Amino acid sequence: MQDRTSVSDIWTRYENGETLTMLTAYDAPIATQVDAGGVDMILVGDSAADNHLGHDDTLPLTMEEALSNTAAVDRAAEDAMVVGDMPFLSYGASMEESVENAGRFMKEAGADAVKLETAPHGETTIEIIDRLTELGIPTMGHIGFTPQRMHQIGGPYIQGRGQTSSAAVDELVETAERLEEAGVFTIVLETVTEEVGKRVTEAVDVPTIGIGAGRYVDGQVLVITDMLGLGGEAFKLSKQYADLDSEIRGAVEDYVDDVKEGEFPAEENTYEPLDEETDN
Ligand code: KIV
Repeated sequence: MQDRTSVSDIWTRYENGETLTMLTAYDAPIATQVDAGGVDMILVGDSAADNHLGHDDTLPLTMEEALSNTAAVDRAAEDAMVVGDMPFLSYGASMEESVENAGRFMKEAGADAVKLETAPHGETTIEIIDRLTELGIPTMGHIGFTPQRMHQIGGPYIQGRGQTSSAAVDELVETAERLEEAGVFTIVLETVTEEVGKRVTEAVDVPTIGIGAGRYVDGQVLVITDMLGLGGEAFKLSKQYADLDSEIRGAVEDYVDDVKEGEFPAEENTYEPLDEETDN
């Protein structure tokens, strides 16, 4: 049994006033570094679709792809909690299928928890989350901008802008409260004004994890490729901590030059025939 960060560890850190950290990862080498870097949670996001598999948005990610990514991260993560992000329509069509798919993240891919996006007043999702938590599947909510509903919302718009006391913001707060009642252990709050982030955080007694939700939330999450400068985009809500695109491009160019100029392989990269007397 792995001794990774548990729901109760997350709660203890939250109650001690620690700000929680989460990053996405989609494969073992990156997850190894993210884990060693000390995050509390690794989200195997459905953002793998656009940040890892070359799609335009998160919708095409399949259950099999999500499970394969999660299993790779599970093999790499020693300390951080691994959260499997349930793909578009892998939940919601029926209770039975939703529970089975959530269970596959735990049983087949080694996830410690799952995450589901919830629309304002998303009754269906809230019912599913209620069932999952009753069955012992730690579940993270996700409200605000929910990319799986992008075609319905019309784009990655900032939720709650200019309408802090409006019905839309009240709906967000109520949805967060309903998620808390359904038993989520954390709530991701994506792309909302800082004031809305604060209102939701004050309204619930579960940690809120913000991405583009300002400073007054209980934790932060970023998409790994954006923060590493690895084919990601420079979004206002993100911060780039490295420029891996340049590093990788430079390394590839150096390799191509070395091979073309006969610098690689060098003598130290070559094998001699076995000398039976000395090598055996
Ligand atoms: O899939 C993802 O990367 C996410 C984060 C943006 C929270 O859901």
